[in-house]
Amino acid sequence: MSAVTAPGTVTAGCSPASRFDVARVRADFPALGQLVRGRPLVYLDNAATTQKPRAVVEALVGFYTRDCANVHRGVHELSQRATEAYESARRTVARFLNATPDEIVFTRGTTEAINLVAQSFGRSILAEQDEILVTELEHHSNIVPWQMLAEQTGARLVVAPINDRGEIVLEELERRLNERTRLIALAHVSNALGTVNPVEEICRMARQRGIAVLVDGAQAVPHLRVDVRALGCDFYAFSGHKIYGPTGIGVLYGKAELLERMPPYQGGGDMIRSVSFAGTLYNDPPFRFEAGTPHIAGAIGLAAAIEYLDRLGLGEIGRHEQELLEAATIALAEIPGVRLVGTARHKAAVVSFVLDGVHPHDVATVLDHEGVAVRAGHHCAQPLMERLGLPATTRASFALYNTLEEVEVLARAVRRAREIFG
Ligand code: ALA
Repeated sequence: MSAVTAPGTVTAGCSPASRFDVARVRADFPALGQLVRGRPLVYLDNAATTQKPRAVVEALVGFYTRDCANVHRGVHELSQRATEAYESARRTVARFLNATPDEIVFTRGTTEAINLVAQSFGRSILAEQDEILVTELEHHSNIVPWQMLAEQTGARLVVAPINDRGEIVLEELERRLNERTRLIALAHVSNALGTVNPVEEICRMARQRGIAVLVDGAQAVPHLRVDVRALGCDFYAFSGHKIYGPTGIGVLYGKAELLERMPPYQGGGDMIRSVSFAGTLYNDPPFRFEAGTPHIAGAIGLAAAIEYLDRLGLGEIGRHEQELLEAATIALAEIPGVRLVGTARHKAAVVSFVLDGVHPHDVATVLDHEGVAVRAGHHCAQPLMERLGLPATTRASFALYNTLEEVEVLARAVRRAREIFG
């Protein structure tokens, strides 16, 4: 790894009208200033994970070098500092989602948050023949936990279809709701296609019928301002590492009255009020769902990431990313042999595509040789790929630090793949 001037820091990024200063933003991300295979890194695998700003790295270092202690357990100064920082992180997340701190459970990530809801909420409400509704565009982490729950309870998984653009067909989803539907679990934004789903409308449909809704927000929170009260969902899950925070930390938002009624997901320290061999009294939410020593540094790093985003403004970030999405969509669509996969009217900055006669892994390998990092494969959404009749796609996913110049590098690299394999 060697430091270079990051692409786009001089010329590219956003229109003069925009207040978003991408060159300044890029300077906050040390990893972006490196050469990969002799070329400036063009990091377009942000839907898999994002790079981290210095503020997040410094928050982690600060915890481990100054305040490292366990939380909720010590009277000593360091433990009090660690507890205050951890609980302050919970308040930051609550503000970010427009929730209250008691509605914020720290988890390992979106996947664990969904499993928690399946095994705690789902197991306590589902009976045989009840139905859980998911959509065709879900990530495996929003399918498999429900399949496991269905096996355990005798409930059924019902699937709402998408159209060829990669959009949920609302009328079809509504037709599948009935008196046996207990839960709808859907992505806010599709990781593979970028489709932004009409979550508010689906929550309204669900509410009229007394159905709970879990939203997988992993791909939404980096791009959109999320307000769980305005959305009207019962549960909202996201991961820290997709939002410029650390790996291994995530969030489950659950409505207070639901968390209150839910049994624990795991047993251990900190989730109890008192333990004896005669029986155990459980703690209140959110602590009831945080057995064992949590990822304290992760929560603190996540709060630093959220504060970083707040300083930039999600509105500005969204506008910048939409500019990148538009440019990438046009640049790729112009290349002979490229077919865009996922052309929803409302999209986050994700562009999936296939190149005629070239396997997506080969495309990604050529791109890698040009310094361009993308993901190729089924994107942990095999049922979606099956629906689209494709084994895989190549996916470029953009973040706040990407530039218009990088979009050009991507398009040139795809043309190069076409020359090599065409
Ligand atoms: N869910 C992540 C992705 O879409 C890993 O790449």
